[in-house]
Parts: sequence; C-alpha cells; structure tokens
Amino acid sequence: MAKFFEGESHTFSEYLLVPGYSSAENIPANVSLKTPLVKFKRGEKSAIELNIPMVSAVMQSVSGPRLAIALAQQGGIAFIYGSQSAEDEAQMVREVKSYKAGFVVSDSTLTPEMTLGDVLDLKEKSGHSTMPVTDDGTSRGKLVGIVTSRDYRPSRDDRSKLVSEFMTPADKLITAPEDTSLKEANDIIWDNKLNALPIVDKNGHLVSLVFRKDYDSHKSAPDELLDDSKRYMVGAGINTRDYETRVPLLVEAGADVLCIDSSEGYSEWQKRTLEWVRATYGDSVKIGAGNVVDAEGFRFLAKAGADFIKIGIGGGSICITREQKGIGRGQATSVIDVARARDEYFEETGVYIPICSDGGIVYDYHMTLALAMGSDFMMLGRYFARFDESPSDRVIVNGSYMKEYWGEGSARARNWQRYDLGGNKRGLSFVEGVDSYVPYAGPLKDGVEASLLKVKSTMCNCGALDIPELRDKAKITLVSSTSIVEGGAHDVLLKDSNQQVSYNFRS
Ligand code: IMP
Repeated sequence: MAKFFEGESHTFSEYLLVPGYSSAENIPANVSLKTPLVKFKRGEKSAIELNIPMVSAVMQSVSGPRLAIALAQQGGIAFIYGSQSAEDEAQMVREVKSYKAGFVVSDSTLTPEMTLGDVLDLKEKSGHSTMPVTDDGTSRGKLVGIVTSRDYRPSRDDRSKLVSEFMTPADKLITAPEDTSLKEANDIIWDNKLNALPIVDKNGHLVSLVFRKDYDSHKSAPDELLDDSKRYMVGAGINTRDYETRVPLLVEAGADVLCIDSSEGYSEWQKRTLEWVRATYGDSVKIGAGNVVDAEGFRFLAKAGADFIKIGIGGGSICITREQKGIGRGQATSVIDVARARDEYFEETGVYIPICSDGGIVYDYHMTLALAMGSDFMMLGRYFARFDESPSDRVIVNGSYMKEYWGEGSARARNWQRYDLGGNKRGLSFVEGVDSYVPYAGPLKDGVEASLLKVKSTMCNCGALDIPELRDKAKITLVSSTSIVEGGAHDVLLKDSNQQVSYNFRS
C-alpha cells in the first residue's frame, strides 16, 4: 500500500512570520548570519562557517569564477558548475583560488582587428566600458592597447572602424608589473589620473586590470569568506558518473567543498559517490549531497556520509520536474520535515548535519522563512543569475535589460554531455528544465546587501540576533489565498508605473 503523507505540501508563499518581542538590542547591525556549511560533532565547530547563509546553484548560467569571487566577498560560497569538462571546471576553481582582490581578469578582451561594432556589442553584453586589447584576444595575450568609452563616439563613428584605429596603444599606456600590490596600484592610478591600470608580466602579457573605483570596495569587505591562506573559498559541483576522475582534479585545484549535483539524492549512485570520496580522502574532502524532500531521504544521505544535505525537488524557477515526472514536494513542507529529521539525528548521534533549502526562493522573505523553518543556508539560482557577475549574457528584451537563465536539465545545458562525454549512459531522454530570461539586477554586492538587510530586519522583528535564535523564536503561520492578496498593495491605483514594476519586482 502506498504511503500517504498527512496534510498538504506547502510552499514559502503560503507562510508568514508573526512578530515576537524585540528589544532595543534587536537592530540589523547586531544580527549575525553566520552558519555552518559542513557537519560537526556536538560541542565542536563546523570546519567551514559561512558568513551569510547563501550559496549559488551548481548551474552553467549562475556559478562561474566571477560570481564565485563576488559571492565569497560577501561571505557566501559558489558551487562552480559541473556540467563542463573536469579540466575546465578545475580551471575555474583555480581562477577563484588565485584571485587577488582588486586585480580583475578581463572577460571582455578585444583584438586590434575587431571593429567598433564589436566593441559596442560587447559593451552591451558585459556592461564593461574599459576593454584591454591583446594580440590574440585572450585575457593573457600580449597587451597591445586599451579601449574606453572616451575613445569613440557611438553616434558619429562608423561601426566598421577598426579597434587599432581608435584604441590607446600599449606604448602610450602606463602599466605596472605583476608583483605590484593593490596599494601601489592605487597610488599609480591616483598619481596619473587613470581609470584603469593594466598589470603585465615581464613579456608584456596582460595579467589583470586594477580599476580606480574598486580600491575602496576591496578595503571594506568585512564578511569575506577566506581560507587559511587568505584565498577566497569556492565549492564545485560533481556528478555520480565521473567522480573518480573529476574529484581529484577539483581537489588539486583547491576546491574547498564539493556538492553532488542531482535532482534526486535518495539513490545508490549518491551513496557510491560519497563512499568513494570517504574511502579516498577520509574526512579531509567535504562533500554535500542531495536533493531530498523527506526524513527518509535525509537519513539515507546522512548515513552515507554527506557533510551537508540539500532539500528540494521541483521548486526551482526553471524546473519542470514536477510537470514532467510528477515527483517533488512543496519546498516549505520539505524543509520543515527534513529539519526535524536533522534535529532528531543530532539528538541520537551528536552529529549536526547542516541542511540547505535549494530552489524556489522568490521573495527575500522566503529566505527568512527558510531559515526560520530550520534551513542552515539556502542555494539560489535565479536570484544570482540576475547579477552582473553571473556568466550569462545581458540582453535587451522588450526594452528592458535581462540576463539569460537556463536549467541544468534543459536541452541547452545538457549539450555539453552529449558532445564531451560521448553520451550519458544513465542519461535522461527528456528535459526537466527551461531556458529563460530574468530581469537584470546590477552588481551582486548591492543585491545581496539589500536582501540581507530585509532578512536581518525581519529577524529583529522576531526578537532574534542569529539564525539559531530565529529558529527557536519564530512563530510561523499558514496564510489563506485571500490574505496573500491582502499582503500586496491592493485596492489602490499606483501613481507611478515604475513603482508598480519595482513593487512587483521579485528579488
Ligand atoms: P531557483 O533558485 O528557484 O532558480 O532554483 C535553482 C535550483 O533549481 C538549482 O539549485 C537546482 O536544484 C534546480 N535546478 C537547476 N536546473 C534545473 C532543471 O533544469 N530542472 C529542475 N531543477 C533544476
């Protein structure tokens, strides 16, 4: 006889927090969002603690090196996508680990043979107006010049004009050698009234750029997530097929934590993968697993050795798993169930295994709810895809800036496997994700700060100064569909259509 779960399964939008008593101490500046990433024993501390409870989804359209750096600067961690060759993924991990704050490796590099049209297109896509020109167009090629928006007049100059005709050539540029410190670079920028300073190696090859505007921001990143060698922390996604070759490359590249990326975690494949990692590396390699949506799935992965466990099937914004396969569970109900199992497991064994609510965060308050319901941190895809730093292109759709965002189960993401692995033996023959646009939302730093200010403010309303206290004190209520309508602006005509847009804008 099939097992029937009692009650319905609910999602975050069906809940609200009821305020508790807040004292004068309860102000956002006093709130800590520190949270454990990997399992630990009673009385001990997690080997990795996040400074903010956010990790980025293991997705091509979300977690590349640029986003990983920007998120680590804010105190979270990115999981570089695994749907690429193991060598390419390891290279992305290395890029994050070798990153020096303030030294930017350009992802908008030109060749002298390109045209003004190419420059304008690249500027549109990347949002960058300063572009180095190298002999081969790569970010490590020989520096031959630089282009800034002061070098051309888009309305008057011919789009076919060559970059070599209007760039500032290398012999007219001030550059600095590889061992220049950020402070020294900044002094050169100020003394010479520059906007950007190219850093070059002894053969004249481009290494990075230092921008005038960046210096202050790099001095003030109080929450940045660093390893013992003061490098940014980064995670990497793996699968249950090629782990024996992929994991060693990622570990060698310096990945701080791994995560098995799969829509279904309650499987023998995940157990085998976890066991192989433990047999090969003991506890020195940290690895999360998932996704599960109930206590049974949690216990299975806990026993198999997962360092953290992800929750969520079918709730992601680009996800059509529920429609395609009819499996899944409301995200809020899944979190509540698994959090209870995590606490019971802790009581029984003295081992605390952090859990991560993955997918389905639409409004900022969903994050607060996920934390209040017991999640230790959240994994977000759509949320991060919207920012400058995500790997996808920025495009104009119906007059508005958008970023592309596609699911790992979409045909677009799966192509790499067909071509690079020579066919996926256990592969699925139907799509579980869509290809989409999401509204462009500027720099990650601004977006994350704004969201977390709201989370902290709500925590204060609940009388909580940290995540465990929120979990203890939160009072959570289900809401009816009419009270959801009551929660938005209603029965008024908004004066400003922009207000309407920003009001409806989901973060
Ligand atoms: P979002 O934050 O709601 O956009 O959800 C992101 C999450 O959706 C990811 O972390 C994955 O767990 C999940 N996901 C990513 N790609 C797909 C897909 O193609 N189908 C189903 N779920 C996906």
